[in-house]
Amino acid sequence: MKKIFFYGLFVVFGISFSIVVSAEGDAEKGKSLYQVCAACHGQHGEGNKALNAPANAGQNEWYVVRQLKNFRAGIRGADPKDIFGAQMRPMALTLPDEQAVEDVAAYIVTLAAANPPKTIEGNIEAGKKAYTPCVACHGENGEGNKSLNAPKLSNQHDWYIVRQMQIFKSGVRGTHAKDIYGAQMRAMAQMLTTDEQINDVAAYLATLN
Ligand code: HEC
Ligand code: HEC
Repeated sequence: MKKIFFYGLFVVFGISFSIVVSAEGDAEKGKSLYQVCAACHGQHGEGNKALNAPANAGQNEWYVVRQLKNFRAGIRGADPKDIFGAQMRPMALTLPDEQAVEDVAAYIVTLAAANPPKTIEGNIEAGKKAYTPCVACHGENGEGNKSLNAPKLSNQHDWYIVRQMQIFKSGVRGTHAKDIYGAQMRAMAQMLTTDEQINDVAAYLATLN
């Protein structure tokens, strides 16, 4: 009986292991796919304010994969008021299939984390306080937490952080019926009640790079 049980476990782990392996991205293939992305996100994934494109370098691979899948499926970027998400959505659809999504994400994680210029004026001390409830999911240093599905927030452009907080609050992001994780974040975004508080948090996060 015991033997059968252990054999069963072995089979289960064996199968899940092979699924993980087959879903893994090929960074070499991802590099050529990324050339399209570089036009907006930069050759080093550093982002570009003039083109409203956030940094991707340094972001967690699983989060990049999820966002690309969400853009492709219209879970993100399909709201008529989502001007910048609408620019990204057709770009995610240039990737031929889900393997290409994995490949491009595997390449992105090879890029060194960005250190974007600070553009938002805010009270860093007040921002640190206002960030307290965010720590539970995004981590003390804004490093993100895979088990809680929360992305990395450090090494990101401050203006992008501000914009995402605003669109989560207004419901342009995080309200699609299938956007499970966006919905979790949308609820949290309500904790920052004023634009001033949002700016303070963004200014604080910029100090964590
Ligand atoms: C035409 C410019 C443009 C191109 C080309 C482009 N993007 Fe984007 N991308 C954007 C913009 C703008 C946003 C921000 C959307 C928003 O504000 O919600 C974005 C957002 C993203 C995000 C979400 C980041 C986050 O932190 O949530 C990822 C991931 C991403 N892009 C990856 C890619 C990849 C991979 C490619 C190439 C296949 C690509 N982008 C091509 C403009 C572009
Ligand atoms: C309960 C856990 C949780 C808490 C607490 C939380 N978040 Fe989030 N946050 C998430 C998740 C999950 C996502 C990813 C949403 C998605 O997949 O689209 C997210 C996404 C974000 C994003 C978008 C990042 C990007 O690259 O587009 C920002 C900005 C953000 N959170 C800021 C904050 C701030 C600031 C606070 C505190 C006021 C906070 N979060 C509190 C779970 C949380």
